[in-house]
Amino acid sequence: MGLRYNNRKWKESMRLRLDYNNMMTDFVGKEGFTKKEIRENMNLIDTAFNLVQLKRGKGMMGWTELPYNQDEVVADMISTAKEVRKNCDYFVVLGIGGSALGPMAVFQALCHMHHNELPKSKRRAPKFYVEDNVDPERMQALFDVIVPEKTVFNIITKSGATSETMAQYLIIMNMLKEKLGDAAADHIIATTSETKGNLIKIAKAENLKTFYIPDGVGGRFSELSPVGLFPAAVLGIDIKEMLAGAAYMDKICANEKVFKNPALLLATFQYLSMKRGKNISVMMPYADGLKLMADWYCQLWAESLGKANDLSGNKVYCGQTPVKALGVTDQHSQVQLYTEGPFDKVTTFIAVDDYRTVFEISKGCEDIPDVAFLGGHTMNELIQAERTATEYALMVAKRLNHTIYLPVINPFTIGELLFLLEMQTAYAGEMLRINTYDQPGVEGGKQATYALLGKKGYDDKREELKNAPQKREDFII
Ligand code: PA5
Repeated sequence: MGLRYNNRKWKESMRLRLDYNNMMTDFVGKEGFTKKEIRENMNLIDTAFNLVQLKRGKGMMGWTELPYNQDEVVADMISTAKEVRKNCDYFVVLGIGGSALGPMAVFQALCHMHHNELPKSKRRAPKFYVEDNVDPERMQALFDVIVPEKTVFNIITKSGATSETMAQYLIIMNMLKEKLGDAAADHIIATTSETKGNLIKIAKAENLKTFYIPDGVGGRFSELSPVGLFPAAVLGIDIKEMLAGAAYMDKICANEKVFKNPALLLATFQYLSMKRGKNISVMMPYADGLKLMADWYCQLWAESLGKANDLSGNKVYCGQTPVKALGVTDQHSQVQLYTEGPFDKVTTFIAVDDYRTVFEISKGCEDIPDVAFLGGHTMNELIQAERTATEYALMVAKRLNHTIYLPVINPFTIGELLFLLEMQTAYAGEMLRINTYDQPGVEGGKQATYALLGKKGYDDKREELKNAPQKREDFII
């Protein structure tokens, strides 16, 4: 049987579209941009484009090759996932940040919205949990619902050094050893760096099944590596189709012409917007299935672009604060601010042409016209109308916004979307002339935590904390 993602026409029908009308002066007046203005920045745009193309596949840009270089590991993930599906009822990801947000986003986008509540016969995959915090109440809650004998834990940490994830590992391994003895190792699969960190050492010592995160793939760019693909495979998601979607978008985003390259164009709009003080990037999908995709984007955008220094060491303090919102829910919460508040935001709407189901709104209340008009329409029409109306209201209020259209939510379009947003981030990082792939700003907090918990080698930090300004009681009421 031919695979649909090998069919050119089908792929074209699944192509994501970018509508940037409401970024242009024609629609939002002086708040917007003209094509001329974009062309005036062609040097910057070309440089960013060329640098991304030059760096791709190298250094920390190993993620660009994930759609192409994983045949062997994909086969391993699919066969391991089959075993997990056969033998277990619960699949738990232990990870945080880039090692958790992608798996959660893809699960929500591509599985049934009440996956865990479905009967096993309909679910056809284990119940799925992602533990991305160290709240003790949450760990207890997990223990209350899983059956260890029927659970596989996928511990994911690229560095193998993340305290939160390693604390979870210690708890889980101890619990499994107590309950299952020597069989404990059969219930843990490690996803980590092949060359660095503690988890790889532990995995070898405990004889754990292991998947590797390539060296040039940072956490927030790792969703299309085993970090995201293995949990997706366990859930029965077609991971080859996800990669095919990413590869398709990669080709589109390798077009040097900015008006033909959605990632380059989006990066340009965001960069120019930042220069005008629009320091908030709102992502607002009109689909519950994409709510956590906005969370994933927030980490990608914030951690990649929020930097104090540029590549020459100048203080730049750059980045946009990403905000997640959900259409239509947040129309009743956030949109008042987006429409009438400060002119400091760029909103990215995500629209879906065809929802995976059609739900009719029943006729009724015929004597109350304000309610009756809804009857006979579909919820699909209602959500599309509300999205169009909100986009229109923002345009009238001269607020920058654009829309990314997914023809439908499926593994191919999700692969496209992930890659598009990663590429947008890469291009934006080059325009800002920063290191997109490091995160020095999270180190301070990590080191202070190590010191507070008595980790060896952090005596100086402990001393520093002791000498830190003491909190004043009168400032606590
Ligand atoms: O993007 C990143 O690099 C981070 O957000 C990491 O994903 C996060 O800190 C978790 O790191 P690790 O996978 O090493 O446990």
